[in-house]
Formats: sequence, C-alpha cells, structure tokens
Amino acid sequence: NEKKLTPFEEIGEEKLYRLVDTFYSLVAQHPDLAPIFPNQFSEIARKQKQFLTQYLGGPPLYTQEHGHPMMRARHLPFPVTPTRARAWLSCMNQAMDIIGLEGLIREEFYARLYLTAQHMINTPDVGE
Ligand code: HEM
Repeated sequence: NEKKLTPFEEIGEEKLYRLVDTFYSLVAQHPDLAPIFPNQFSEIARKQKQFLTQYLGGPPLYTQEHGHPMMRARHLPFPVTPTRARAWLSCMNQAMDIIGLEGLIREEFYARLYLTAQHMINTPDVGE
C-alpha cells in the first residue's frame, strides 16, 4: 500500500518555513522589489508560509484564516511588472540554493511558481 507523499510532506514544514524566511530576506534587499513591500516582513512571511503549505498539498492554513486565496486579485493593488516577476523568481531561486532544496521536488516546485508568477503580472514595464 504505497501512499504518495504530497510535495509539502516531501519538503517538510521546517525547510519550507526556512525557504520563506530566506526568500523575504532577499526580497527586502532587492532594488526592484523592496519598494513595493512593507518594511516589516513578518506578516507577509507568515501568510506566505500558510499559502505555500496549502499550495504544496498540506493543510489549508491560508484559506482557514483568510478565505479563498484569489492571489491575482490580492496582488492588484501592487504593480507587478514583468521585471518584478523575474526579480521575485530570482530571489526564490537563490533562496532554494541557500537552504539546499534540490532535485526533482525543487524543479517541480519552481516550475509551478514560475507559472503562478506570470499569472500575477498586472502592469507593463515602462520605458523599454
Ligand atoms: C502578497 C508582490 C508573486 C504569494 C504580496 C504583496 C506584494 C507582493 C507587494 C503584498 C505585501 C503586503 O502585504 O503589503 C509580489 C510580486 C510578485 C509576487 C512582485 C511577482 C510575480 C507571488 C507568487 C505567490 C505570491 C508567485 C505565490 C506562489 C503572495 C501571498 C501574499 C502576497 C500569499 C499575501 C496575500 C495576503 O495579503 O493575504 N505579494 N508577489 N506572490 N503574495 Fe506576492
């Protein structure tokens, strides 16, 4: 009776939380991203841990506290340009390197994040 692990179980809560904290420490230093985020990253990191837990097949922590994710709608107040989507993905890729997330699980997770990030784009780049 082989039961397939969810990506959340495979990565593990401890490593996922470390990924999110590392990711936001990089976002905070990124010149294209820092200006559109609040100075305090503790609340957004807490929400992102809840969201990614359920995104990866773990318990629906985000929905329990905040309702339907509607991620594109929740990003509409913030100008998400193609440049910022690239920056977001670059911070995530670096964070995966730093915490040592490797192999197929990383490739699949990153590929999904790549698609979700494209979906969040709501503003064109200007002056190019
Ligand atoms: C919230 C930027 C992609 C998940 C936010 C916020 C900003 C932001 C500025 C609001 C911070 C605040 O509370 O003031 C971006 C940019 C992206 C991006 C520039 C580039 C594509 C993503 C992706 C995901 C994601 C791909 C999920 C896989 C979240 C979550 C929140 C959030 C869960 C919290 C929503 C809430 O308030 O409940 N993002 N984001 N974001 N973002 Fe993104």
